[in-house]
Amino acid sequence: MHILLLNGPNLNLLGKREPSVYGFDTLESIQTRLKEKAYKEEVCIDFFQSNSEGALVDQIQKSIGAADGIMINAGAYTHTSIALRDALLGSQIPYVEVHLSNTFAREEFRHKSLLADNAIGIVSGFGASSYFLAFDGILTFLRKKESK
Ligand code: DQA
Repeated sequence: MHILLLNGPNLNLLGKREPSVYGFDTLESIQTRLKEKAYKEEVCIDFFQSNSEGALVDQIQKSIGAADGIMINAGAYTHTSIALRDALLGSQIPYVEVHLSNTFAREEFRHKSLLADNAIGIVSGFGASSYFLAFDGILTFLRKKESK
């Protein structure tokens, strides 16, 4: 089983960026721990981060036929990107939307997600733990699908 974790703009700055909102964990440390968790679950996990919308779209397209599930923290593109929405829908790969912060408890422009209605589920507001909860969620979903 192959899972892809996609991170969008500014998430490469995790650990330094607004730590009162996003915490002190770096993306690298989150990814290292996710890799360990995936190894224990006998699942392959790949990582891709970009600040560019087009590069994220390209990565989703490359994952067709390769990834069984996607976890995506699209950062600010969550609230704006029809291109990412279309790429995810077009790929037909099931995905979970992830946010470190509770976007609904923040500015109004963060309350809208262009990705949420087609997601398996959303994990938002648990800091770095959101990624691990999302991993558990997508794995449960994919294993259930596999056993059908
Ligand atoms: C975020 C929330 C977004 O609104 C914001 O633009 C981010 C991070 C989160 O993980 O909480 O870049 O996706």
